[in-house]
Amino acid sequence: MPIKRYLSGLQPSGDLHLGNYFGAIRQHVANQDDAFYFIADYHALTTVRDPEALRRNIRDVAATYLALGIDPARSALFRQSDVPEVTELMWLLMSVTGMGLLERAHSYKDKKAHGILPSVALFAYPALMAADILAYDTDVVPVGKDQVQHVEMTRDMAQHFNAFYGDVFKLPEFRLGTPEPVPGLDGQKMSKSYGNTIPIMARGKALKQLIMSIKTDSKPLEEPKNPDTCTVFAFYALFADEAQREAMRARYLGGNYGYGHAKLALLEIMNDRFGPARERYDHLLAHPDEVDDLLRQGATRARTVAQGVLGRARRACGLD
Ligand code: ADP
Ligand code: TRP
Repeated sequence: MPIKRYLSGLQPSGDLHLGNYFGAIRQHVANQDDAFYFIADYHALTTVRDPEALRRNIRDVAATYLALGIDPARSALFRQSDVPEVTELMWLLMSVTGMGLLERAHSYKDKKAHGILPSVALFAYPALMAADILAYDTDVVPVGKDQVQHVEMTRDMAQHFNAFYGDVFKLPEFRLGTPEPVPGLDGQKMSKSYGNTIPIMARGKALKQLIMSIKTDSKPLEEPKNPDTCTVFAFYALFADEAQREAMRARYLGGNYGYGHAKLALLEIMNDRFGPARERYDHLLAHPDEVDDLLRQGATRARTVAQGVLGRARRACGLD
């Protein structure tokens, strides 16, 4: 069987958190044989207005990706805006896309409800995302659940284009990292817009404080506790292997095990997982030129592929 091509993007709009890690990044690190991972900086312009913050966030996402194991020798790691072909491809796709399709997007309505300026770009966001995906003949898009609708819309746009102009675009599939969204400190979905995140690169006292602030019920130490309704257990289970998870479940059910103990166990397992990555991250942030060089190399690879696909699409619709 031919290798499947993976592609995904992360917006540089704030600290990456455990929801991003388990929903998206972990799958990216596990699938690098024919992969394109990028920093969605054009998309971030819909929310980030401070140019310095945007520059900082771009490097931060790149350093986080590299520190967590994206290997630039295997995956093309690049900035979305270094491949301007996607904006042209977006126009070709928008020309065959009805307003009704975009009007159904949940993310536009959610973001508008959260007070984000409902710009034309925010509305057209799924068309740019479709261009990102289709520009690389992508097979699989590893994302969290909130992005599934966007991948489905991408398939719709590709099918419309193919129906008019022939078999130009490959239809992608999504793949979820976790069946349900990762919860935040308050038990709702973890999201930067809800201020309930645990950043991947948090550490030391700040991380301990965050973990200690996870909401639990007020059962006393002696009483048995229900792992299946506890956010601390939910986090622990994401990091743990099966034996560790079952041992923790038994401690919850056995009583005489407090939420404070469970939180310390979570802190430890999280430090074990991310300790080495934090060191690599610190190194990369101290050497931004290394990061910028790797991003440029990734963009060169990505651009060659995107130019080929854009050429195909232009010829198909008569723009040759
Ligand atoms: P946020 O909601 O914090 O703004 P993004 O929308 O930038 O996060 O998400 C980047 C990637 O991480 C997407 O693939 C998204 O589906 C995934 N993701 C974000 N939050 C979660 C979560 N709580 N659980 C699982 N995946 C998530
Ligand atoms: N919309 C995605 C998010 O907010 C980021 C993104 C942009 C993306 N283009 C993409 C994800 C293409 C997957 C594929 O998380």
